[in-house]
Amino acid sequence: MATDDKHSLITENGIPRHIAIIMDGNGRWAEKRFMPRAFGHQAGVKAVRKIVEHCAELGVEVLTLFAFSSENWHRPKEEVSLLMSLFVETLQREIDTLDKNGICVRFIGDRSAFPVVLQEKILEGEAQTKDNKALTLVIAANYGGHWDMCQAVQRVVDKMTIGELSKQPISPGLIKEHLSTADLPDPDFFIRTGGEERVSNFLLWQLAYTELYFTTTLWPDFDQNSLDDAINSFKSRQRRFGHTGEQILNKTALL
Ligand code: IPE
Ligand code: IPE
Ligand code: MG
Repeated sequence: MATDDKHSLITENGIPRHIAIIMDGNGRWAEKRFMPRAFGHQAGVKAVRKIVEHCAELGVEVLTLFAFSSENWHRPKEEVSLLMSLFVETLQREIDTLDKNGICVRFIGDRSAFPVVLQEKILEGEAQTKDNKALTLVIAANYGGHWDMCQAVQRVVDKMTIGELSKQPISPGLIKEHLSTADLPDPDFFIRTGGEERVSNFLLWQLAYTELYFTTTLWPDFDQNSLDDAINSFKSRQRRFGHTGEQILNKTALL
């Protein structure tokens, strides 16, 4: 797994090392078909499978998928409980295949709010796949960017209180080391399907210099070709990280 605290640079062939996706539009996809929203979430799982496989083929190192936000508890309780069951079933059904394909699965977010059976599946899945190296699949579940920053600051304060960490000014590096994604490069590329152009409390800290891409394609329709189109847009961009375009072209920028 990649560990650096510099800007994550693209791989040699221009593929982003870390892609983060807000998989939005399942409900509308189902409604368009006069079907219940549950049908859209089930179709969404199929799209996840295709995109995970394609990312592994492309040599993406980390794929972070927003599966359930800390605000999604506000949905009708039937939909929340359907999503919980779907997470358990999907993990149960897919984990061996993911493992066989060398995919390391991990979760970020406050899992303590989940049903115990889901917490167990999460722990089992993480343990089973922890040494896999092909692709790290990060599932953001009961995740919120505000939660992540709060838990990071809380851990820093706790460590300082018991003397595990010396008293020091809070720095970006210190916060980053305590985020749920501490050992991962920040996302190079962010994709949101479903047409909304907002971040919805996803990786707020980590997206500081991420390239953003919004598409009206609804998540269940987002396939390998859609991902290729998105990556082509990424490849056409010049990432400057505050430097001038000329510094980047002349490779005199220290990234
Ligand atoms: C995203 O699709 C899936 C989750 C939030 C779990 P939505 O369910 O938000 O679909 P729309 O936005 O209502 O179409
Ligand atoms: C964001 O989608 C969360 C996930 C995809 C899991 P939402 O559909 O919940 O976002 P908002 O509420 O429209 O911003
Ligand atoms: Mg939505």
